[in-house]
Amino acid sequence: MTCHITDFIDMHCHILPGVDDGPADLAQSTTLAQIYTQAGIAAVVATPHFLPGTSWATPAATVHRLVDELQHHLNQLSIPLRVMAGMEIAFHRKLEQRLRAGDVLPLADSSYYLIEPAFQGDQGECVSLLTALQLDGFHFILAHPERIEGFQQSPHLLGQLAEQGVLLQVNTGSLLGRFGSTCHRIAAELKEQGHLHFLASDAHDAARRGPLTATDWQQILELPGGPELLHRCCQNSARLIFATDDQAPHDPSLFRNQQP
Ligand SMILES: [Fe+2]
Repeated sequence: MTCHITDFIDMHCHILPGVDDGPADLAQSTTLAQIYTQAGIAAVVATPHFLPGTSWATPAATVHRLVDELQHHLNQLSIPLRVMAGMEIAFHRKLEQRLRAGDVLPLADSSYYLIEPAFQGDQGECVSLLTALQLDGFHFILAHPERIEGFQQSPHLLGQLAEQGVLLQVNTGSLLGRFGSTCHRIAAELKEQGHLHFLASDAHDAARRGPLTATDWQQILELPGGPELLHRCCQNSARLIFATDDQAPHDPSLFRNQQP
């Protein structure tokens, strides 16, 4: 089983300038892009926060425009990073309405939406709505559920969601123990259960919460089951982003039971 960092696609990062708590301007976005390419990473999905009622609710058209502008800028500088459009959509009262209206973006033109559950509180409403919307044909990835209090207290809900086809994205920092012992434990459990479908950096800046580095990659490789995990995550990203419609049936087993 061979998997290299060049196969990795960062499915969750804040690289667009001036829209959330990520880079403040194009120069900072460019610095993040350079860190990615220095590590050998060639593609990312830009996932700015979409948090209605705040200044972090960038319209879909603006996300597309900013992705195009950043891509153009990187191309001009010969920085070989492909940037695709997405959103980290906070779970909110009008989520269903906005999904049905097409006001929020899936990841990289796939049919999967990255949902960030509320950090505090019971997750019953979130689980119920996502389950109902799945039955209507929507597909979801949960952003860093290992960091969410309600799932930390009821981790069986994550197994339940995964079994019904909600995909789970864990932060690399959680898996490497940088978000505390609880996040570390939940991330490790998801890995062992085969319910860790995507690793992502959730990068915000160059210093405090940066992109995945070659050192991070090596540390994950050295974890028990690390090579298999990275292989699966890389395959899953490629499946989600590059598969044509008839190659991407929405069978959750495809994302967890893959052969090298
Ligand atoms: Fe994020």
